[in-house]
Amino acid sequence: MRMYLRLLVATVLVFTQLLHGALSWGKDGHYTVCKIAEGYFEDDTIAAVKKLLPESPDGDLADFCSWPDEIKKLSQWQWTSNLHYVNTPKDRCNYEYCRDCHDTHKHKGWCVTGAIFNYTKQLMSASENSQNIVHYNLTEALLFLSHYMGDVHQPLHTGFLGDLGGNTIIVNWYHNETNLHHVWDNMIIDSALETYYNSSLPRMIQALQAKLKNGWSNDVPSWKSCHFHQKACPNLYASESIDLACKYAYRNATPGTTLGDEYFLSRLPVVEKRLAQGGIRLAATLNRIFSAKPKLAGL
Ligand code: ADE
Ligand code: ZN
Ligand code: ZN
Repeated sequence: MRMYLRLLVATVLVFTQLLHGALSWGKDGHYTVCKIAEGYFEDDTIAAVKKLLPESPDGDLADFCSWPDEIKKLSQWQWTSNLHYVNTPKDRCNYEYCRDCHDTHKHKGWCVTGAIFNYTKQLMSASENSQNIVHYNLTEALLFLSHYMGDVHQPLHTGFLGDLGGNTIIVNWYHNETNLHHVWDNMIIDSALETYYNSSLPRMIQALQAKLKNGWSNDVPSWKSCHFHQKACPNLYASESIDLACKYAYRNATPGTTLGDEYFLSRLPVVEKRLAQGGIRLAATLNRIFSAKPKLAGL
């Protein structure tokens, strides 16, 4: 791995660990998705992730899952900043890859679903052990794929273009002025941590892991499945997200509204399910990628 990436990742890791608990789908959301995923990794995935992760004492994938957010503002990484989301046209509660997945210059594929396809393909090309592969940076590919899989499950990361996925909708979260996008990235999770988990993220993650084994156990196989032998199914996840954005995120959250208990208590189950689905689907995708047998083995 290139030296500067190593340094950056090490810095991010130190900050993540120092600030954990103090900071709050921001960091806590991504950490949760990746931590849940880790519990569902098959042996080939555990081995591949261990090989690809930057060296760090006791470092696990979850510690690195916010790295793409940390770097997106740096000039050399600015090209990644459109890859965290996809927008639908005004008030359209459905998503279409060809219509919606592009950047502001209409370059096709430059959105979160395109990025998931791209990094899945990069990791696959290595698994296939092809002789004439382009040498991608597979550490970066793993970290981007893990992060964007979380993002695509945040309903407002498939939001309307007109309000930039809720970023321009100013609301009050209890007594604090913020925007609707931030409510869904951070505030619902922060309030849940304070209200139910004594501000402990590991406790919240444990509760989601327990639900995956009990209440959601019958749903998990269908969450994992990805049709037509595809390795990744981001179009399905973005379609679900915009549907949830219309039914839950945007509903009763017009500019100037104060969002309190009623909104929090009815939306928290949606956030919890999306974090759990993100984790299960990240694991399922990595398991499909890393169980692919080398096509040219022995040559
Ligand atoms: N984050 C930044 N810009 C965004 C947008 N247009 N839609 C969703 N999330 C975003
Ligand atoms: Zn992101
Ligand atoms: Zn966001």
